[in-house]
This record gives sequence, C-alpha cells and structure tokens, in this order.
Amino acid sequence: MNVLGIETSCDETGVAIYSAERGLIAHALHSQVDLHAVYGGVVPEIASRDHIRMLLPLIQQVLGEAGIERPDAIAYTAGPGLIGALMVGGGMANGLALAWDCPVVAVHHMEGHLLAPMLEDEPPRFPFLALLVSGGHTMLIAVHALGDYRLLGTTLDDAVGEAFDKTAKLLGLGYPGGPALAALAEQGDDQAFAFPRPMLKKPGFDFSFSGLKTAVMLEVRRAEAAGTLCRADIAASFQRAAVDTLVARAIKAATSEGLDRIVVAGGVGANKLLRKDIAARFNGTVYYPRMEFCTDNGAMIAVAGALRLSEAGRADEIKVQARWSLASLDVPALAR
Ligand code: KG4
Ligand code: ZN
Repeated sequence: MNVLGIETSCDETGVAIYSAERGLIAHALHSQVDLHAVYGGVVPEIASRDHIRMLLPLIQQVLGEAGIERPDAIAYTAGPGLIGALMVGGGMANGLALAWDCPVVAVHHMEGHLLAPMLEDEPPRFPFLALLVSGGHTMLIAVHALGDYRLLGTTLDDAVGEAFDKTAKLLGLGYPGGPALAALAEQGDDQAFAFPRPMLKKPGFDFSFSGLKTAVMLEVRRAEAAGTLCRADIAASFQRAAVDTLVARAIKAATSEGLDRIVVAGGVGANKLLRKDIAARFNGTVYYPRMEFCTDNGAMIAVAGALRLSEAGRADEIKVQARWSLASLDVPALAR
C-alpha cells in the first residue's frame, strides 16, 4: 500500500510517498524561508498562497519518482497550524481522494513528528518517552501505543524553538534563527555565562523558557553598553542552558515512567548538541529521525497515515484544526 503524505501546516510544503511494504520511496520539500525572511517571521497569507503554488507540482514530482500513477491512500496534516495553510493541504488531499476514490487520513502534525523515527532502519518499539521540540511545542509524552499519548509536561510560556528563534533575533541572526544560532554557538564558549536552567529544581515535567530569554536579553544589553558583546559566547551559553534543561527533564521523565527508550523529534531535534548530550547522558536508547525529517516534511505525515490506516482501516472524516491537543487522539480501533 502506497500512502501519499501532504504537509502544509506552516512554511514548508512537504510531500512524500511511503510504502507499507518498502518504506519511504519518494519525498520532496519546498521551503518558504526566503519568502518570509524579509518580514522576520511567517506571514500566514503568503504561506497559504505559496502552498497553493507548489503543492500540485510536488505531488506530480513524487508520483513520478515513485513510478506510480496514484497512491492507495492520502494522509494530510489537519492541524495544529496556520488555518489557511492547513486548508490548502486538506482541500487538495480530500479532492484527490475523491478523484482517485481512495481513503484519506487527517494526521495530527505533532503525531507526525513523534512517528518520524519510524522512517529509519531501526525504528523505536513502543513504549517510549517522546521529547517533542519544535517552533510551537515543547512536550514530554509517554507513548504506549499508536494514539496512546499521555502528556507529562509542556512549556508554560515559550516553546524551545521559539526561544531559539527569539534569541537569534536578539543577536541579529534573522529568521529562522534556530539553525543559525546553533552554528554561531559552535564558535563560542558555553561556560561564558551562567544562564538559568529554568524549572530544573521544580517538581513535575513542565518547562519555562521566558526567564532564560530575559536573562539573555539583559546580558546582551549590558554587554552592548559596555562594548564587550561576544555574540558567539552568548549563543553557546544560551544553547547550553536550553539543552541542559531539555535533557535533564526528559531523562527524569523517562526514569520516573520506567521507560528505557527516548524519541527526540521536532525541529529542535535537529540540534546537534541536544542529540549528542541526551545520548551521552541517558542510560537507555535514544532515537531520532534523520536530520531532514526533524523539521517539517511530508514523509512523517505519510508514515503516520500509513500506520493509522493499517491499524484502523478506512478513515473518512474531513477536518482541519488550528488548535488540537495531541492527548485528545484516539487509539485506532484495531490497536485496542
Ligand atoms: O518542527 P519545525 O520544523 O516546525 C514546527 O512545527 O514548529 O520546527 C521549527 C523550529 C524553529 O523554531 C527552528 O528555529 C528550530 O525548530 N530549529 C532548531 C534547529 N533547527 C531547527 N533549533 C535549534 N537548533 C537547530 N539546529
Ligand atoms: Zn513541525
């Protein structure tokens, strides 16, 4: 069974074909970064219009690469995300499903991130702890089966990707800031500043990044006034504090849940220091998607759709949702 995956929740148009028998057989991604960079962030209307422009050509491209005329099913990101952008993918998926008379599955974007490591040669087995870290989310989830997601902790303010992006902006690194900040951090001293490790002394598994953001801002202002600003040291010390917080919280959650596997996924999962540190400090196995499938892509939606279809049979609802709790998802009927 070949599943066409469509991702249009934000600023990447991602399309892929995942075969239940052969794995991922084609994928394509168009990034809108250049279009939004001049505005310093994503402009929703520009995002929607560019998805309209790129989606069909990308679908034709992956079908051609896969050597098939039509898929057996279609999976699309139904939320959370920008509503106009979601509607482009949702409309296209449901229109094509009607034309091709095939099933269509509405996929939760964060479930796509969470299942992205299933694309790899050695996928994680259930149960595992998922550390989902993106531009909009920071979540620790106990995953016991497909659709069985218990939220253990989340951020009380900014998402960690947002903290990377805002800190990058403060340092004049532009949008999207996470990868640029991580690159600059490699040239800096991560011990230069003792930025706070937020929430580490508090019980539970929630996160907070606003205190760290403020500490960085105050230090940048102080150093600018004194004429001693070293942006690389600030970037390295910020990254160190953010990664320490994520790693310590994730390991504590895994240990308290008795889980010996951790999945790290979402855009910030591309951060090299995070990947290295969590593997070094966790007394268990850590799984990640390959770098290109950490950030938004169609392959993760295709594999999530394939797994949902194989467990639950035909899905026939049409929906898009701008806000959507991951914990509200059902376990597919056959997996219960
Ligand atoms: O998952 P994603 O592509 O989109 C959302 O669903 O939000 O994540 C994007 C986020 C952005 O905040 C971006 O700055 C961050 O992931 N990011 C990184 C890195 N690569 C992407 N943050 C830190 N280090 C990176 N290498
Ligand atoms: Zn994402």
